[in-house]
Amino acid sequence: MAAALIPERPTLRALREAAAGCKACGLWERGTQTVFGDGDARARVMLVGEQPGNEEDLAGKPFVGPAGRLLDKALEEAGIDRGETYVTNVVKHFKWEPRGKRRIHAKPNAQEIAACRPWLDAEIDLVKPEIIVCLGATAAQALLGRQFRLTQHRGEFVPSTLPARVIATFHPSAILRAPDDAARRAAMHSFVGDLKVVAAAIGTGQS
Ligand code: URA
Repeated sequence: MAAALIPERPTLRALREAAAGCKACGLWERGTQTVFGDGDARARVMLVGEQPGNEEDLAGKPFVGPAGRLLDKALEEAGIDRGETYVTNVVKHFKWEPRGKRRIHAKPNAQEIAACRPWLDAEIDLVKPEIIVCLGATAAQALLGRQFRLTQHRGEFVPSTLPARVIATFHPSAILRAPDDAARRAAMHSFVGDLKVVAAAIGTGQS
């Protein structure tokens, strides 16, 4: 159980160190290391993705690969400084399947998401963000319930039991996977638009 590893009065550093030894689900065997959240410990905005990818697994930091670069660009366009955010994932180990020499992303299942949840809850408790941005359906459904539909409520603040305002948008990888340039541009435009809603809410966006 991840909960048993959480120190009584944790700091982010203590949490990160404790999470490094987490074996609450089987994914620790497949990943190189735990990829804990990273960023401003007093961030007003917390960005939550699904799970680290190949580059994140190797670097030990969230959103540093292709999806992270797209996220950086979108944040900049929206007027949000990534350095002032806290970035994390619902699952903190890379789940992958071999395809030839490559490690291909595999979706985490409900047990893996639940096993990892105490870490995310502890991060939310410590950082106390004003706004949580769910990147993609996995994060949104983990935080807002399985019935949440990104297609219906993308880019809106939605009611939740969390101690922050919560909004969900695309996962940057979904934009990278768009079938053609026109679709990619449209999705990026919507993604930046959603992040501008966040920027406006914290007063950093241009109106
Ligand atoms: N995708 C995610 O959901 N998180 C990362 O950290 C990288 C890619």
